[in-house]
Amino acid sequence: MAKAKQKEVKTPKIKKSLATPRGMRDILPEEFLYYDYILKTARKLFEYYGYYRIETPILEKAELFIRTSGKESEVVHKEMYTLRTKDKGEVLALRPEGTAPVVRAYIENALFNKPQPVKLYYFGPYFRHEKPQFGRYREFYQLGIEAIGDPDPALDTQVIFLTYLLLGQLGLDKKRIFFKLNSIGCKECRRSYIRELKKYYKKNYSKICSDCRRRLKTNPLRVLDCKKEQCQEIKEGAPNILDYLCEECKSHFKRLLENLDALNIPYILDKTVVRGLDYYTRTVFEVFLEGEKENLALGGGGRYDLLSKSLKGPDKPGVGVALGVERLIETLKKNKIKLQLPQPDVFLVQMGDEAKRVGFQLLEKLRQEGIKIAENIGKNSLRAQLKNADRLNTPFVLILGQEEVLNGMIILKDMRSGLQETFAIDKIIKVLKERLKK
Ligand code: HAM
Repeated sequence: MAKAKQKEVKTPKIKKSLATPRGMRDILPEEFLYYDYILKTARKLFEYYGYYRIETPILEKAELFIRTSGKESEVVHKEMYTLRTKDKGEVLALRPEGTAPVVRAYIENALFNKPQPVKLYYFGPYFRHEKPQFGRYREFYQLGIEAIGDPDPALDTQVIFLTYLLLGQLGLDKKRIFFKLNSIGCKECRRSYIRELKKYYKKNYSKICSDCRRRLKTNPLRVLDCKKEQCQEIKEGAPNILDYLCEECKSHFKRLLENLDALNIPYILDKTVVRGLDYYTRTVFEVFLEGEKENLALGGGGRYDLLSKSLKGPDKPGVGVALGVERLIETLKKNKIKLQLPQPDVFLVQMGDEAKRVGFQLLEKLRQEGIKIAENIGKNSLRAQLKNADRLNTPFVLILGQEEVLNGMIILKDMRSGLQETFAIDKIIKVLKERLKK
């Protein structure tokens, strides 16, 4: 049947002062399907591996992030949304990331008394005041997992393996997934590395960008993260942190690599992966899909053995990862993973008060029988309802008018052939089920 052309009503422009803030957007039902799909797939996988869901507040004390991500990190220094409460003037922050809140919750709820490691996952919105662009928003969702309370590289392996499995289960080509991997050592070995790194960069001081000059003073490791063209050559010649690891950190990293090899997880060692948050120790990594934008990681993570202690909690190591949900969705769509809102099987058209009353009962019966039925119960006009049915593209329409109600009958219209038949209303479920089966 030719589809009636639906007139689109021109969208009135909303006043700028009332529109969504820059970098934030509504998630409409068609889009939310992808969020649900990711969460559903992740939940099944993670719970199978003993990770259970936690959600922490969207607002936290700003101090939590300052102390853990670092005062000089871009996330805190440039991107954190903060506010002052009206009563006590406390400084709160819209959470820019999920690891520090989860470790805070681990301490505050004494989860260290449970069998270790405690394995958690989370899914929700995060906020960073970044320059909005493709794959970078001011409000974005993260799906993360954290395993807290065990220093063994087996946990680093598990976190990386689960990331790999999840991306595959979501439908991405496993052959194109790869990890960029590095170890940034512990406090001790990092100190000697930073000394050498600074020496090297000072020799090249005239050639590096102003940001790197600043980083050299405030957070020297971050020079390795510089994306500016003028710094690339210098970055390539920089000393490699892996050459400075102490015996324990070296052995930890070696065991991780052996585990990843045994599981056939593709990775490349990259000395420039240092991560933008200050709490990391030893393992750091980012995950990519080959052939997609090089600088847009689908996710990133690593080990944070000192984080709990830095929050005055017990000395408990941890490791985790977070995936950017919007980046994942963009990648899924680009890789032809299409999701659609469920299509109704049938549309009920009713006319008149009596038909509406009978229609209500029929609707519920059909739904209880698992038949997906759509309606426009607020409308009376046959034309308007048929137009809606046509728009939804349902294969069948049921028509219930005053006359049909009086006779205990109902009309079934096959929208493809245009054929109309009349059936006793108490037989219609059986008839519909047979027709839908065909
Ligand atoms: P992150 O690398 O800052 O790590 O963020 C993780 C992922 O979130 C990124 O790889 C990216 O996909 C996504 N993401 C970050 N910022 C944005 C943005 N502005 N717009 C869209 N997506 C974004 C963390 O947040 C750590 N807490 C990860 C972790 C968990 N480490 C250990 N456990």
